[in-house]
Amino acid sequence: DEGRQLVVAVDGPSGSGKSTISRRVAQALNARYLDTGAMYRAVTYAVLRDNVDLRDADKIAAVAEDVQLSIGTDPTSPHISVDGIGVDREIRGPEVTQAVSAVSAVPAVRALLVARQREIIAESGRIVVEGRDIGTVVAPGADLKVYLTADAAERARRRSSENATNQAATAADLARRDRLDSTRAADPLRQAEDAVVLDTTELGIGEVVERLQRMLDKVTA
Ligand code: DC
Repeated sequence: DEGRQLVVAVDGPSGSGKSTISRRVAQALNARYLDTGAMYRAVTYAVLRDNVDLRDADKIAAVAEDVQLSIGTDPTSPHISVDGIGVDREIRGPEVTQAVSAVSAVPAVRALLVARQREIIAESGRIVVEGRDIGTVVAPGADLKVYLTADAAERARRRSSENATNQAATAADLARRDRLDSTRAADPLRQAEDAVVLDTTELGIGEVVERLQRMLDKVTA
């Protein structure tokens, strides 16, 4: 029944297939889709735009507070803007990707974005939310929690084919980002105890989506 609230949390490191899988599951469910990584990336875009020193947590927090973020939740056409300007392409660039772990480690940034994410979830009814801390922090009461993993080499392969960049450099960058995202003090990437863990190294995207749909049939039955 489409009137009832349904929250699906999808966490995992980059290159685990999170975005593709989350969007497909959202479409299949006729639900909304929230890419929380895009929100951290958009704040990072604003921090770089304003030439803020990445070691200055107070200034980073001030940018996060001042910035006007607007994020769409349509799984077929995700869209995010910063101060009224669309930044969908810019937030995927190497400058933002390099700096996003530093920005997302600032507790005040997380507090702001987590509050915003909870509002969006509450307004949405049915929604698939992807990130690093969705099952643990943002939506601990989610109806289904999924933790996606994949071999580091496979994740690097996926990322470098997405961005047409060098695989060795991508592997090094992914390893660096995984380490920063998993070891930061504020809400690090970690598996919720009640999450279903799926390794997507060998499973095709379609296979993972089908498995999740079967799990969701049970949850919503
Ligand atoms: O999923 P992504 O690669 O677009 O996420 C970009 C960065 O944002 C990631 O390196 C860590 C951070 N992030 C986070 O700290 N918490 C989230 N819920 C989502 C992303």
